[in-house]
Amino acid sequence: MLDWSDTAAARQAPSFVPQSLAPTEATGLGTIDRRGGRVSVDEKRMINCRADVNQLLPLKYKWAWEKYLAGCNNHWMPTEVSMQADIALWKSRDGLTEDERRAIKRNLGFFAASESLVANNIVLAIYRHLTNPECRQYLLRQAFEEAVHTHTFQYIVESLGLDEGELFNMYREVPSITDKAAWALKHTQHLDDPDFKTGTPEADQAFLRDLVAFYVIFEGMWFYTGFAQILSLGRRNKMVGIAEQYQYILRDESIHLNFGIDVINQIKIENPHLWTRAFQDEVRAMVRDAAELEAAYGRDTMPRGFLGLNAALCESYMHFIANRRCAQLGLAPVFAETENPFPWMSEAMDLKKEKNFFETRVIEYQNGGALNWE
Ligand SMILES: [Fe+2]
Ligand SMILES: [Fe+2]
Repeated sequence: MLDWSDTAAARQAPSFVPQSLAPTEATGLGTIDRRGGRVSVDEKRMINCRADVNQLLPLKYKWAWEKYLAGCNNHWMPTEVSMQADIALWKSRDGLTEDERRAIKRNLGFFAASESLVANNIVLAIYRHLTNPECRQYLLRQAFEEAVHTHTFQYIVESLGLDEGELFNMYREVPSITDKAAWALKHTQHLDDPDFKTGTPEADQAFLRDLVAFYVIFEGMWFYTGFAQILSLGRRNKMVGIAEQYQYILRDESIHLNFGIDVINQIKIENPHLWTRAFQDEVRAMVRDAAELEAAYGRDTMPRGFLGLNAALCESYMHFIANRRCAQLGLAPVFAETENPFPWMSEAMDLKKEKNFFETRVIEYQNGGALNWE
């Protein structure tokens, strides 16, 4: 299996800034420059690029292209997963406790809207300002995967006969979910301004804040406690269809997260003036705030807890994950050293070890055999 744990961007050497290029429209939709030269690798930049963004080749950021290929090889659809066992359990009188039902519904409610928030942020905010074709190629793949994830929640709601209005409105109606969504949206709102442009230190830092809020925190922290909740039930043979779908989503999200980390680290390499001490402190504060919001969500969704899972365990898992994300960004930890209370989560990410769920399907999902899971 490919290992995304280290940051490929950190290994890339910075390159010089060419002075002779004519300014080019960053969107790629401006007037064609008939006299413009061919793009060379050295002219490519993550942000504020002045070279033609419509020329994928030559590749500069091979880590972005590799993640695009890995995403394509992981293709799956939620409707390929049987929901029969989940439907029987959900409809049975005593198969699930009230606490388990509450946690499952809130978890689904959080993800149902969050997948859309992430997709909207990619398409409407990040894509425009990330001025590199190989990164945009990955963003197009990621956007499709977010659509597949949203589809998953539609399929679960339909299969279990859940109240669709209740589930898809939880992000507005359940305060502990609203608090998380509102916190992330606050960091993307000014990018939504049609006049927003990168190119000044303040604007470039605003863009970095958006990347941290969505890739590192939304997808890289909050999603992970959500996965742990459902996969913990799956390990006890409860809601195994949803657990299987979450495992596929987790596999996708681990690439999304690591793409985001590589993007941020590469922007740091190319723009060291943005990564000031004050800005680093701000990012660490964002990570700490996000962990606190998640702890409040854990207490709200699991007031009493159930076998193998409770709010306190989720909080220490969040501390463990928060420190890990800081390390990936080259930042000091924000919490005291914490043991991972869910060591089985790393196995859940590596599907070849989950023989019980994936013995046949994993192989079927590989396109062209580019990845060998056996
Ligand atoms: Fe997603
Ligand atoms: Fe994602």
